[in-house]
Amino acid sequence: MENFVFQNKTKIIFGAAAENQVGAEVAAFAKKALLHFGGGSVKKSGLYDRVAGSLKKAGVEFVELGGAQPNPRLSLVREGIELCRKNGIKFILAVGGGSAIDSAKAMAVGVPYGGDVWDFYSGKAVPAEALDVATVLTIPAAGSESSPSSVITNADGDLKRGLTCELLRPVFSILNPELTFTLPAYQTACGAADIMAHIMERYFTTTKCADFTDRLCEAALKTIIHNAPVCVKEPKNYDARAEVMWAGCVAHNDLLGTGRNQDWASHQIEHEISGIYDVAHGAGLAVVFPAWMKRVFRSNVNRFVQFASRVWNIEIDFHNQEKTALAGIAALENFFASIGLPTRLKDMDIGEDRLEEMADKCTGRGGAATIGGFTPLNRGDILEILKIAR
Ligand code: NZQ
Ligand code: ZN
Repeated sequence: MENFVFQNKTKIIFGAAAENQVGAEVAAFAKKALLHFGGGSVKKSGLYDRVAGSLKKAGVEFVELGGAQPNPRLSLVREGIELCRKNGIKFILAVGGGSAIDSAKAMAVGVPYGGDVWDFYSGKAVPAEALDVATVLTIPAAGSESSPSSVITNADGDLKRGLTCELLRPVFSILNPELTFTLPAYQTACGAADIMAHIMERYFTTTKCADFTDRLCEAALKTIIHNAPVCVKEPKNYDARAEVMWAGCVAHNDLLGTGRNQDWASHQIEHEISGIYDVAHGAGLAVVFPAWMKRVFRSNVNRFVQFASRVWNIEIDFHNQEKTALAGIAALENFFASIGLPTRLKDMDIGEDRLEEMADKCTGRGGAATIGGFTPLNRGDILEILKIAR
């Protein structure tokens, strides 16, 4: 096991009707807030009214900004920064999914900064301070409710880039599984794929001894494999929704990655796809992850055999371990297809004309850099993965 520091400041308030506590929780930090949300699902479901009511009851004044799109845009972040400055706001409450939360986090680092907030995402600057952010989560997927990350899309250049910094962890997050009952089946499935990807990015490691976190990862994957199909079929099944919601949060709160090196190549490749084609991040991952596996499994067949055996209950063929490894990869791909996800780029109407551009962007324009902690991948390897995913 490798040395590590683990600290996660986000207070999780989990359970039925938990959103009614939001006003009192915010009031402990601020008497004025920006209420940020997405494209309207929170108004349609009635959640907006309950949150607004709770804030008013607790004496918290708020200014609102809706419109965070999936793959949240830099333009709205800039608008939000101006709105906060104009109104003297020091606290942002995001109600929604990863997109509204990531957009809120970007505003939080942008408000106190003298330069352009994109500097943080392009690697030109590191945030020194941030406003407090809190969340009411409506979709288990991105894990942003407790992660130190934010991913923003700059329409100028179709660039989707992430920022990771401890300042970005929300001060609290409210997780009520009932709020996910209204999720369409496709969004539920996309969320499940993202959660599984967050676990697998950590699971595929070169660290030799990491048994405890291996087992945690396997338990989390099995929980999603069992419960996500139930959520797709029975959207109002509280217990299944609760399992996925909590597993989704822990999948990306950094616990599962303690003491081990991690990969993250599939995420970087996917961000190039959704940055250009504006597809759901989870759908992009359902396409990229199996393709990545097919390209890299020979670099550590044993790890893929363990994945096949422990996660998918596949009997190990000791005479042909590659066969077992490939059976595990096929099981993952079949699972994604079974819950209604695409498993090829063409399933998302993505052609082959921009594969080279994606490989370039992923490794830096010169094509010199590599990505991935499990197997370093250069531009040519990434192109191969994208071709496998066609
Ligand atoms: O915008 P509204 O109307 O709210 O609708 C959303 C959106 O269309 C809808 N939705 C959410 N909750 C709902 C609901 N519809 C009905 N009922 C509900 N309860 O679902 C759609 C997707 O929402 P979004 O917030 O985009 O989903 P997600 O949570 O998957 O976030 C995706 C973003 O997070 C980034 C992704 O790259 C992507 O940009 N990620 C953020 C990470 C982080 N901050 O740590 C890590 C991840 O790897 C990921 O990259
Ligand atoms: Zn993700």
